[in-house]
Amino acid sequence: MRLIRSRILHWPIDQWHQPEYFEDGILLIEAGRVLDLGPAERFIAEGLDVTRCEHYPTRLVLPGFIDPHLHFPQVDVMASFGAQLLDWLNDYTFPAEARYSDPVFAAAAAESFLDLQLRHGTTSAFAFCTSHRHSVEALFCAAERRQLRMVAGKVLMDQNAPDAILDTAESGAQDSEDLIRTWHGRGRLGYALTPRFSGTSSSAQLQKTGLLAQQYPSVWLQTHLSENLAEIAWIKSVHPQYQDYLQTYEAHGLVPKGALFGHCIHLTESETERLADAGGVAVFCPSSNLFLGSGLMPFEALQAAGVDLAIASDIGGGTSLSMLKTLADAYKVCQLRQYVLHPFEAFYRITRGNARATALEGFIGDFRVGQEADFVMIDPERVPLVARRVQSAKDLQGELFIYMTLGDEQLIVETSILGEPAYRASAS
Ligand code: GUN
Ligand code: ZN
Repeated sequence: MRLIRSRILHWPIDQWHQPEYFEDGILLIEAGRVLDLGPAERFIAEGLDVTRCEHYPTRLVLPGFIDPHLHFPQVDVMASFGAQLLDWLNDYTFPAEARYSDPVFAAAAAESFLDLQLRHGTTSAFAFCTSHRHSVEALFCAAERRQLRMVAGKVLMDQNAPDAILDTAESGAQDSEDLIRTWHGRGRLGYALTPRFSGTSSSAQLQKTGLLAQQYPSVWLQTHLSENLAEIAWIKSVHPQYQDYLQTYEAHGLVPKGALFGHCIHLTESETERLADAGGVAVFCPSSNLFLGSGLMPFEALQAAGVDLAIASDIGGGTSLSMLKTLADAYKVCQLRQYVLHPFEAFYRITRGNARATALEGFIGDFRVGQEADFVMIDPERVPLVARRVQSAKDLQGELFIYMTLGDEQLIVETSILGEPAYRASAS
């Protein structure tokens, strides 16, 4: 049993403007799950011996952050200079992913990646691996040892890239199916079919992937869509028989409800309508979109059109593993699109909102009784500028806005998985 007395914030119902906040709350965790949550005075009235609590009166406890789109092997290409998407893939990313042909390298990289993630307060992610099946095995093994709720997939790509990272339509489908059978639903792990994007998959590969999606409906599907204008023109030349980018997926059964599409910046009106009708999720990756010069995702317009949304880092196009920094960029991109991203919406998005968009809200993302107790603890005292600025915050909303605008991983003092610390900042 773990008893945490602190300031506690989460979204018990699926409405960003209705958070639940306890200025002096107690979170009771037993066997890795939330046993109870409420104001300390209620527990005291019920006779709880509060000396048993860990007491952090100035910290803020939130559900662990969820990153619904990233590439774990791309940590080594973060901050690569001077290129937009297609050149960035060819010049930096594909060579870096080729190194994952070495299983020993992949295993070490997976461990290091998860260390980094926990340090940044991210407790769950949807990860693209590389086309090498052991890159997925490496991540799943490392995540399983740490008891993380993690969804990942082998990247499917059988054309238009160096041989060292290509599979074939047959081997890609076979490896994916083997990985599904071994890992999907094992403990807290889940599998995502992961065609990289239609530029690097033949019609035969897309077709086989669609059949797997049909055969294994509980498996997730993640890919990229409409990120960059040169990319969209190139996709048209690779698959000229289709009317637009989205149709390259639709034609192969690759837009099931809940499918996760990274970026969705330049969708046509028709694509937007069809994505909304199908129940696809547009994953907003603001730091990546700014860094690669891809464009300003029309977050509010997509939402108004009925498209489900999520917010993600897209490491290594993204420039930080921190979901706080991701929110800072999201806010700025939305400003340029005349939409004000409210701090309650922002923090809802990286917790319960991302859980809902990825069909994980029955497990993670909030502190309802019975939920898995993954959480982060923010300590404003860790960053002198934040510590000073937060003193003049008028309310909770103002405080959260300071964390997402001025904060980063240095604010995270503890990240816990199933109630147990998996990362603790060293004393400063
Ligand atoms: N489109 C296809 N592959 C990738 C990738 O690795 N990163 C990004 N940002 N876009 C992609
Ligand atoms: Zn991506």
